[in-house]
Amino acid sequence: MKECTLLMPLDMHLHLRDGVMLETVAPLTSYTFSGALVMPNLVPPLTCKEDVIAYKKRISTALGQVEEVDPELMMDDYFEPYMTLFYQNYDVKFLADVQDEITAIKLYPAGITTNSEGGVSSFDIEEMRPTLTAMSELGIPLCVHGESDGFVMDREADFMGVYELLASHFPDLKIIMEHITTKAAVDMLDKYKNLYATITLHHLLITLDDVAGGMMQPHLFCKPIAKRPEDREALLKVALDAHPKVMFGSDSAPHPQHKKEACGCAAGVFTAPIALQVLCELFDKHGKIDNLQAFISDNAQNIYGICPEFKEVGLVEDPFVVPEKYGEVVPMYAGETIGWSIESVI
Ligand code: DOR
Ligand code: ZN
Repeated sequence: MKECTLLMPLDMHLHLRDGVMLETVAPLTSYTFSGALVMPNLVPPLTCKEDVIAYKKRISTALGQVEEVDPELMMDDYFEPYMTLFYQNYDVKFLADVQDEITAIKLYPAGITTNSEGGVSSFDIEEMRPTLTAMSELGIPLCVHGESDGFVMDREADFMGVYELLASHFPDLKIIMEHITTKAAVDMLDKYKNLYATITLHHLLITLDDVAGGMMQPHLFCKPIAKRPEDREALLKVALDAHPKVMFGSDSAPHPQHKKEACGCAAGVFTAPIALQVLCELFDKHGKIDNLQAFISDNAQNIYGICPEFKEVGLVEDPFVVPEKYGEVVPMYAGETIGWSIESVI
């Protein structure tokens, strides 16, 4: 039976939500990941230090409730929520004060995805300059949801000009292109030294065909929408090669079943409980399992300069039947059998 050991897995783009949903989903990530970059798109979004501290505390409280996982396997449930702030124009004094509580600031174009209404409505560099200059000087990375409001298949490619503008005007600012879905974004990585990217599990696996090519699959509907086969190939290549500027960010985004299986389906794919198993299966299938450690942790540690505490996850090529639901949330591959399972967590 094939095996794989992963050290300190990190999910550098995760939605944990709040309340009961937080209690349901947080333990599913903390079980196997050492840490995760937690996105700030709550209602209202996280825009001040007090709110970040309070949310981090709610996450820790939720992690006290770990019934869903096997206590035998829970030898060490260490988990670091790396917090983010919702991008607005902030002054340097504010940023210096909040800096110790956050790992990055997340920028959303206004209204582009779930709970992003308070985002940026025009990318006027001069208007953003004081904030981005302060972030550069303080060493706070900028995470970006890079989509325009144009035609849905072209939104990410249309946004490349904004990335170029940001990367060239602020060469010392670390800019992370979040959940990239196109060859255009992959090509951008090597053009600017300060551009990095996260890649989700689902965008390595599916194209638009899987979402809407046959019967509509609401549980695969997300923003940015999955693109063309050639885009998925480009993503797969940099992920499987563990390009040093890419890292895993699941964008695991839980929505209750009634909000997904609805007229007006919420965007988001829930992958937290299956991410490591399916990544093992995928990297192994391509003969690249030795590169998974860099993609799942080492690259993120280098890019963000973070040093998670020890966690060792053992996986085996042994079938796992994905539960139909976790609380009210339907995961990707619900009810299906995947090839790898978690064997141990130390
Ligand atoms: O599909 C998505 N869901 N994309 C995002 O950018 C946000 C996320 C969510 O928060 O539900
Ligand atoms: Zn997201």
